Amino acid sequence: MNIVVIGTGYVGLVSGTCFAEFGFNVTCVDKIAEKITKLQQGIVPIYEPALDDMVKRNIADGRLSFSCDLKDALKNSDVVFIAVGTPTKKDDGCADLQYVYASAKEIALSLDDRYRLIVVKSTVPVGTGRKVAQIIKVNNEKANFDMASNPEFLREGSAIEDFMYPDRVVIGTDTEKAQKIMAKLYEPLSKDNVPLLFTEIETSELIKYTANAFLAMKITFINEISDLCEKCGANIRDVAKGIGLDSRIGSKFLQAGPGYGGSCFPKDTLALIQIGKEYSSPIRSIETVVSINEKRKKDMAYRIIDALGGSVEGKDIAVLGVTFKPNTDDMREAPALDILPILTKAGAKLKAYDPKGMDEAAKLLKDIEWTASSSEALKDADALVILTEWEEFYKITPTDLKKLMKGKTIIDLRNVMDLKAMKDEGFTYSCIGC
Ligand code: UDX
Repeated sequence: MNIVVIGTGYVGLVSGTCFAEFGFNVTCVDKIAEKITKLQQGIVPIYEPALDDMVKRNIADGRLSFSCDLKDALKNSDVVFIAVGTPTKKDDGCADLQYVYASAKEIALSLDDRYRLIVVKSTVPVGTGRKVAQIIKVNNEKANFDMASNPEFLREGSAIEDFMYPDRVVIGTDTEKAQKIMAKLYEPLSKDNVPLLFTEIETSELIKYTANAFLAMKITFINEISDLCEKCGANIRDVAKGIGLDSRIGSKFLQAGPGYGGSCFPKDTLALIQIGKEYSSPIRSIETVVSINEKRKKDMAYRIIDALGGSVEGKDIAVLGVTFKPNTDDMREAPALDILPILTKAGAKLKAYDPKGMDEAAKLLKDIEWTASSSEALKDADALVILTEWEEFYKITPTDLKKLMKGKTIIDLRNVMDLKAMKDEGFTYSCIGC
């Protein structure tokens, strides 16, 4: 089976590469020539563990190729995935579908009358699959195709693993032929007992938003409970453990922190709110989640200022981690983008280190000195702020901190350090929910 994937962002690139790994022939298409030239040489534009090797291996084995020429790529295609971005529209929070619709038109203008299955993998509002089908029909009356929806649930930083070992694969179709093709594509997973959930196209589209909104709500809930813990003397880790052991709740996504960020939760919660409004069926719980999370990210800056006695004017602050989560270089909607400008505006002198995110962060954050290591950031600092829980930060000991830092104030927004060890060593240690 020959697969074309349109869009080489996270979802398109990872899905295309993993389908090639399954043994299919895959061509990934993108309009950005520079990106395609690099990918043809096996240079992956994002940091994602294990992706480089898998791309290189599949190029070498002749199953994976990259091109800017959609018309040419479509010639031998059987299945076409649309995996372009659906960013938030600035004015109303809706998903911007211009790239999806442009892809649909381009596909239509390039198709002959041989059968194709067109699959929307991008996260799209309910009804988009039908609109894509309509665009293709209007622009090419000979087009012979079925539509399917197949949202992707992979997380940055563990994208390959999430694609290869998912909890489920959701597939929306309305013909038996389309179902059979999709079942064949995911056979390597269903053979390993991964459930394939077949639904209508609309249901499949809504599952993706509902899953992301639910997870964002779970995080926001535990964040609010962590605030309560701080006031009443309870410990959020144990509260999370205590509720997570209830199988109806589950232990995942109960890590309290500075608020969720990234390329999906902020965008998809806003889009779900808009979908609810459009159908006069408001999702008030998620409206509240969005506003709590927005406020929380900013509040973290004032928590840091309070921990330093109400002023950061002239204080040297080491910042460890700036990406929205570890194992990615992605800065989209990272809490650092809300927190750090408030600190610099209040007169703090920031030295920051992130293992992978500094190039991207430097474009978005001004007046920060970027360092080559955590030790360099920590040297002579009055305080330490931890914003992202990178593995290497867990290895920093109280002795290291004492040796390097001038002051003894630690504001740990990811609960990386050991509370007891910090207190025993005389640090003024502020963490989340304890
Ligand atoms: C998310 C979804 O998990 C994934 O299924 C979807 O396809 C895309 O969006 P991603 O944004 O890559 O994936 O990262 P995720 O691990 O879900 O984290 C999102 C944000 O929530 C991060 O800022 C993270 O720090 C935060 N988070 C996550 C918490 O604060 N606490 C948690 O317990 C989990």
